[in-house]
Amino acid sequence: MDRKWWKEAVVYQIYPRSFQDSNGDGIGDLKGITSRLDYLQELGIDTVWLSPHFKSPNDDNGYDISDYRDIMDEFGTMEDFDEMQQEMRKRGIHLVIDLVVNHTSDEHEWFVESKKSKDNPYRDYYIWRDGKDGKEPNNWVSRFSGKAWDYNGETNQYYLHLYSPKQPDLNWENPKVRDEIYDMMKFWIEKGVDGFRLDAAGSYSKTEGLPDGDLNNVNVGAEYYLHGPRIHEYFKEMNEKVLSQYDDIMTVGEIAAVTVEDAKKYSGTDRQELGMIFQFEHVNLEYKNGDRYSLKPFKMSEFKKVMSKWQTELDGLAWNSLYLANHDQPRSVSRWGDDKKYRNESAKMLYTMIMTMQGTPYIYQGEELGMTNAGYTSIEDYQDINVRTIWKERVLTGMVSPEEMLDTLSVISRDNARTPMQWDDSKNGGFTTGTPWLKMNRNYTEINAKESLDNPDSIFHYMQKLIKLRKQNAVAVYGSFHEYDEENESLYVYTRELDGQKMLVVLNFTGEEKEFHLPKEIEYNKSQLYISNYENDGKIGDKCLRPYEAVVYLYE
Ligand code: NOJ
Repeated sequence: MDRKWWKEAVVYQIYPRSFQDSNGDGIGDLKGITSRLDYLQELGIDTVWLSPHFKSPNDDNGYDISDYRDIMDEFGTMEDFDEMQQEMRKRGIHLVIDLVVNHTSDEHEWFVESKKSKDNPYRDYYIWRDGKDGKEPNNWVSRFSGKAWDYNGETNQYYLHLYSPKQPDLNWENPKVRDEIYDMMKFWIEKGVDGFRLDAAGSYSKTEGLPDGDLNNVNVGAEYYLHGPRIHEYFKEMNEKVLSQYDDIMTVGEIAAVTVEDAKKYSGTDRQELGMIFQFEHVNLEYKNGDRYSLKPFKMSEFKKVMSKWQTELDGLAWNSLYLANHDQPRSVSRWGDDKKYRNESAKMLYTMIMTMQGTPYIYQGEELGMTNAGYTSIEDYQDINVRTIWKERVLTGMVSPEEMLDTLSVISRDNARTPMQWDDSKNGGFTTGTPWLKMNRNYTEINAKESLDNPDSIFHYMQKLIKLRKQNAVAVYGSFHEYDEENESLYVYTRELDGQKMLVVLNFTGEEKEFHLPKEIEYNKSQLYISNYENDGKIGDKCLRPYEAVVYLYE
């Protein structure tokens, strides 16, 4: 067993813009985070992943960086950053920052220079090409929809942007670009950060010649920029030049369209590339033909198949990251649970799964409160650039009706997870004394941290217990995984095992009572209750599970 601090960590993701405002401008900031560290310590997490805190014009909420060595104006100063980090360290909390280096902002000085002339020393920091027959150099589509190229009149060339036009892609082929990135990583490591979450990390290497993509693909061109020809060479180089120079830096790569086989290449224990990756299979299951804005019915057996596959196939070869939500995904309780009648039970059940699987668990801010999707009914309420581009492309062209798109957005939009933290039932949930940058979820008067801290039966306290138990039981972290009753469309049943320590997990994913029959293969002499979201004893056996019941036993 290859033990690492980051394998045993429980990570809490902070989206700073929506966490806590300290100066009344309606935007969360670093001082706000510092003021809430006791809360995080009480929850029991030991690592924070901070979404981008760098200088940015905020076309994509900080995922468009204009200075990698400075702090976003709205978030505060470098002194605020240092203070936040020191206060985290005092509480035993590691800090992992976002590394956004597939692209910069178009306001980054490299791009400002690059676009000036073809012979500017920074020209080659980005991907510039001549047009073809008066059109874009190829047919690639931006991941935010629309063309992936923008024209620059002064130099009569196009630049590539896989995201918004204000996010030009860096040219990783250029060794100077890579060295700039490595230097910047060292700058932050030397400031004390413990790791990086690598944004859009599967897209750095583009296929030579940038060929036209298959038009049947939703992300036209993806076959030529995801897992490109030099991607592993780049990670090996990053590892050699930066990561391996320091002690145990945590890395987690966000890799779109990644299979288990790819994952072993990016993060295999024998590969010297990344520590782990975020895969997307379980969160993409309900998209028709891979189109995020076109939904199909969810099937439990498919979901389990994906979750279990990652558990068994990476075992001993690479490390999983376990998540149900982040700033790009809807709220987990709205998605897989019942965010009304069984909100408390279903949120607890979902995190029982996350906290009893092999890998590093990530809790996105507000998940510990069972926060729900935004509940917006008007397009005016949305702020996300992705929503704005999709609306333009599909609604304003008459492809989809406004009502239909609003329905889809209410389920899938990224703003669902970005509504400000709900701290208490005072005005704006205690998030700000000003006007929140994004409309609060109206339910903050009932769902908030104060209520959760006061209520012994809250999701917060259950999560706290799950974290504590995970820290005390290595089987929960490192144990091997075995699934039972795979075709069951209601229950998820699995065991974990490590050095004779055994755990049985039974989860009811429905709002109805469901019969559980103990699989014959499971033999035991003694059993005890590990955790449950209902009253339960520790006797393993056949039982009728209540709506969204989760029950976990240790047995020998
Ligand atoms: C993935 C990030 O999580 C998302 O929020 C962002 O829009 C894109 N990468 C582009 O940086």
